[in-house]
Amino acid sequence: MSVALVTGASSGIGAVYSRRLAARGYDLVLVARDTQRLNALAAELRAAHPVSVEVLIADLTDAEQLEQVGARLRSDPPVDLLVNNAGAGLRGSFETADPVAMEKLLKLNVGAPTLLASAALKGMVARGTGAIINIGSVVALAPERFPGVYAATKAYMLTLSQGLAAEVGPKGIYVQAVLPAATRTEIWERSGIDINQIPGMMEVDDLVDAALVGFDRREAVTIPPVPEAAAWEAFEQARFALASGFGNATPAARYRIETAPAE
Ligand SMILES: NC(=O)c1ccc[n+]([C@@H]2O[C@H](COP(=O)([O-])OP(=O)(O)OC[C@H]3O[C@@H](n4cnc5c(N)ncnc54)[C@H](OP(=O)(O)O)[C@@H]3O)[C@@H](O)[C@H]2O)c1
Repeated sequence: MSVALVTGASSGIGAVYSRRLAARGYDLVLVARDTQRLNALAAELRAAHPVSVEVLIADLTDAEQLEQVGARLRSDPPVDLLVNNAGAGLRGSFETADPVAMEKLLKLNVGAPTLLASAALKGMVARGTGAIINIGSVVALAPERFPGVYAATKAYMLTLSQGLAAEVGPKGIYVQAVLPAATRTEIWERSGIDINQIPGMMEVDDLVDAALVGFDRREAVTIPPVPEAAAWEAFEQARFALASGFGNATPAARYRIETAPAE
């Protein structure tokens, strides 16, 4: 049996991942703050599937509680799949956002997934197998449409995933970044945004089912609403072409200051 640890399992995308992974036969470790919801989900999954389900109540913005989740990732039975899903948005624009709330968001959307990936990876690398799913967002690639710190945290998830894939992919670890677009979950209401004002809302079951197709194909980056895989490949080729200039030791000619010839 494989074990999957899902953060933010109490609602939305994380709850659907938990249901799908239980149906695939994974034993589960469910992580979030809401005890009642996690216990209800655990009971539902135990009744529906022959799997064991642990519940780990943790506020991932709290260093001690985050460490308890890290400790579970480092202990037995080993966790084969980490789903770094817990996340939130932030009320207001960058200018108006409360700095304390901003710091908390950075802990949840950036700090926690980073430290949990670190905790999970040591054992995975030693075993030569394992997988990490990082939930980013399409706003990582379209910050103009969603200005503020949230998009930047999601860009971090994409970059972290790509860097990790390069580092630990050759050691047998699969890392997938999933970039959902607008998906019908509680995150909108929690962020003070009226869901009815957002066009093209994907249903959460459809989002997770598509993301798992990408997982089974071992895609590095899965963007469920994008119709053509070629669009992502062209984007990557453009990035590699740009990067080919990064090794130049001298500034490009277009940045050289023209000096007047000596008289
Ligand atoms: N829905 C979208 O349109 C969309 C689009 C792109 C990306 N995403 C990403 O998808 C992920 C899941 O969000 P969702 O849409 O499914 O929203 P959601 O229904 O609000 O779920 C968020 C989950 O994170 C947990 N969580 C929030 N704060 C936490 C904390 N301090 N400590 C531990 N757990 C915490 C929540 O559980 P508790 O409240 O019980 O702690 C909940 O289970 C997020 O990373 C989000 O950025 C969502």
